[in-house]
Amino acid sequence: MQESAYLIGASAYDGRTLMTRRSIGIIVNGVTGRMGYRQHLVRSLLAIRSAGGVPLADGTTVWPHLVLVGRSEAKLREIAERHGLDDWTTDLSAALARDDIQIYFDAQVTQQREKAIRQAIEAGKHIYTEKPLAEDTAAALDLARAARAAGVRTGVVQDKLFLPGLRKLKRLLDGGFFGQVLSVRGEFGYWVFEGDWQPAQRPSWNYRAADGGGIVVDMFPHWHYVLAELFGEVRSVSATIATHIPRRVDEAGRPYEATADDAAYGTFELAGGVIAQLNSSWCVRVHRDELVEFQVDGTEGSAVAGLRRCRVQHRAVTPKPVWNPDLPATEDFRSQWTEVPDNEDFDNGFKVQWEAFLRHVATGEPFPWDFLAGARGVQLAELGLLSAREGRRVEVPELAL
Ligand SMILES: NC(=O)c1ccc[n+]([C@@H]2O[C@H](COP(=O)([O-])OP(=O)(O)OC[C@H]3O[C@@H](n4cnc5c(N)ncnc54)[C@H](O)[C@@H]3O)[C@@H](O)[C@H]2O)c1
Repeated sequence: MQESAYLIGASAYDGRTLMTRRSIGIIVNGVTGRMGYRQHLVRSLLAIRSAGGVPLADGTTVWPHLVLVGRSEAKLREIAERHGLDDWTTDLSAALARDDIQIYFDAQVTQQREKAIRQAIEAGKHIYTEKPLAEDTAAALDLARAARAAGVRTGVVQDKLFLPGLRKLKRLLDGGFFGQVLSVRGEFGYWVFEGDWQPAQRPSWNYRAADGGGIVVDMFPHWHYVLAELFGEVRSVSATIATHIPRRVDEAGRPYEATADDAAYGTFELAGGVIAQLNSSWCVRVHRDELVEFQVDGTEGSAVAGLRRCRVQHRAVTPKPVWNPDLPATEDFRSQWTEVPDNEDFDNGFKVQWEAFLRHVATGEPFPWDFLAGARGVQLAELGLLSAREGRRVEVPELAL
């Protein structure tokens, strides 16, 4: 599908230039869910509309026309009315058959994704989707191949790359701050309540293997693109996983058996020799400044980056602690780090990536986070689980279409 497929939504002459607004129809499937509603509908697509659309270099603006799709008519109507929208349906096939729709977006539970994306490819729509792209590598690659054969453009959410903390970390890497990067240590996680005496803050399907749950499937796709884009392609994975909390209570108050992994302790060897160790857990109480933090140590300096903050310690100002367990700590180690300034305004990462995808669809502007990139994330999760099952380090072969 090419640019000519756009509707000319509105034109207005402001005295100097002819401003053209191009409407682009987007199916938003899974809009009643946590991610679909908050991050994609409210914080991205409606925020883009509030800002007047996505401006393009040629002076035109891309205006997202939203078609909400889901299973519950009542929930869709309620969301649509709350946000002044009037286009919604429970019939995905009918929405996909519309000529005024160019993009299919999927934020459904992971298990429902592959089937819907396949349908969208057959309908000739460009596709943007939450991660993971599919439940296994073969399916993810197959989707990538089918999309390429159909000539549709694809994208997978890789929101962590756009976090202020990681953007600042990238800036440090680009500026050569670290010298040679040696290692990355990441701590991700927080306590997810069991659901009995306090409701759980994540949907219960996340804790059932049969429903596509598990922290490896959830988090390793993120770790793949963070590691690959910042430090080097992942060459091997070694993971130990656990289901620390075997019984939980669901949204309806019913106890259930938690069959999926709720913690993963992973070691990743990267091209170029960096070693990354990343702990992911829904069974850890936070004694950190942020819910995820990465410590990067290099020959010239170190950094600790979180969601928003990033702090550094350079070689020249590194103190010299001496191991002496007989004395109380005499130094305030945290105070020996320096805050990296923002130096720019960081917008919501989901929104920034949406804007990039809309420009990609509208103008062909490069967008590296496509289905093949998404398949690499699925592959790392699959091989992480294999490593845990077989108790061994697993090589990660390069994926290609
Ligand atoms: N990028 C991120 O940081 C991030 C974070 C959390 C979740 N996710 C991904 O987003 C997707 C949705 O996760 P969520 O936490 O919003 O889940 P959720 O349970 O809150 O929402 C799931 C959505 O899928 C719909 N759905 C369709 N078919 C369904 C079915 N058969 N059973 C249950 N629900 C069905 C639900 O109605 C709902 O709209 C998942 O693929 C998950 O991996 C991404």
